[in-house]
Amino acid sequence: MNANDIKKVAVLGAGLMGSGIAQVCAQAGINVVMRDIKDEFLEKGMKGIKDGLGKVVSKGKMTQEDASAIVNRIETTTDLAKAVSEADLVIEAIPEEMKLKKEVYKEVSKNVQEHAIIASNTSTLSVSEMAASVKKPENFVGLHFFNPAPVMKLLEIVRGKRTSEETVQFAKALANRLGKTPVVSIDSPGFIANRVALPLMIEAVTALEEGVATKEDIDTAMKLGYNHPMGPLELADLVGLDTILHSVKGVGDKLKSPRWKPPKLLEQMVKEGKLGRKTKKGFYDYP
Ligand code: 3HC
Repeated sequence: MNANDIKKVAVLGAGLMGSGIAQVCAQAGINVVMRDIKDEFLEKGMKGIKDGLGKVVSKGKMTQEDASAIVNRIETTTDLAKAVSEADLVIEAIPEEMKLKKEVYKEVSKNVQEHAIIASNTSTLSVSEMAASVKKPENFVGLHFFNPAPVMKLLEIVRGKRTSEETVQFAKALANRLGKTPVVSIDSPGFIANRVALPLMIEAVTALEEGVATKEDIDTAMKLGYNHPMGPLELADLVGLDTILHSVKGVGDKLKSPRWKPPKLLEQMVKEGKLGRKTKKGFYDYP
């Protein structure tokens, strides 16, 4: 399968990542079918896409016609079999639960075309384990996008144990078609990006917990001292504190390293429902 020959992409999941990935594909001129389990999730995902594009149009960086054409390239459905049956590429962006993902992959595998590539946007789960649920594991690959997907330039490609070299080459060419820069990781816990970034967030939360500095000063230190666009605590709020905690636990369990112990403050905040931007309260308030 050549990335330039893709006619249709099915994106499973219309959350922040799924809708962002759908937008990225539609912006590259590819027809997209976005699937979620409820119409209200699909509506919310489409609203996010329209709002995001609206901001770009209002800045004068895109015409209204181009924005409308992008939106029109995305159809939505709750029917999984229908969503994947005509797709050349399926990108799964559903919650990070291995059991759930495996169930979805079994259905996808039953309904997908022979040549189709199946990809997971997982940030920390084993690609090889997921690939075991599909008929052609050689056509299965990790495609890890970053939030906000339409803006972030990286595409982290994860090579599972049985991913073919052809599929990795397809993923690299796809990255180019989508205007992203690919990096390739083996199927190791946290891959490259989260393996390196999560310990930074753990240390930032621990430093705050120990009273080393204020949250503002911790973030400013990393923004101005290291040129990060956001401080680690601001970034944790953007990603979602529940997601960070889940990832830290998942990767930490597999690496068996004491450095990956979740900070008590992080656990406490998640328990209190302070999950970051999505709940309007995290390390910072978002009124
Ligand atoms: N669609 C298309 N373009 C968009 C857009 C959208 N929805 N939203 C913004 N843009 C464009 C804007 O038009 C703007 O373009 P310009 O530079 O040509 O003007 C550009 O993107 C930047 O947008 P803004 O000016 O609105 O925002 P900022 O300059 O304040 O940047 C940010 C916001 C991109 C979020 C920046 O703060 C940033 O890079 N932060 C770090 C984000 C990060 O690290 N993400 C990774 C999270 S971890 C992850 O996802 C992994 C997972 O496993 C957890």
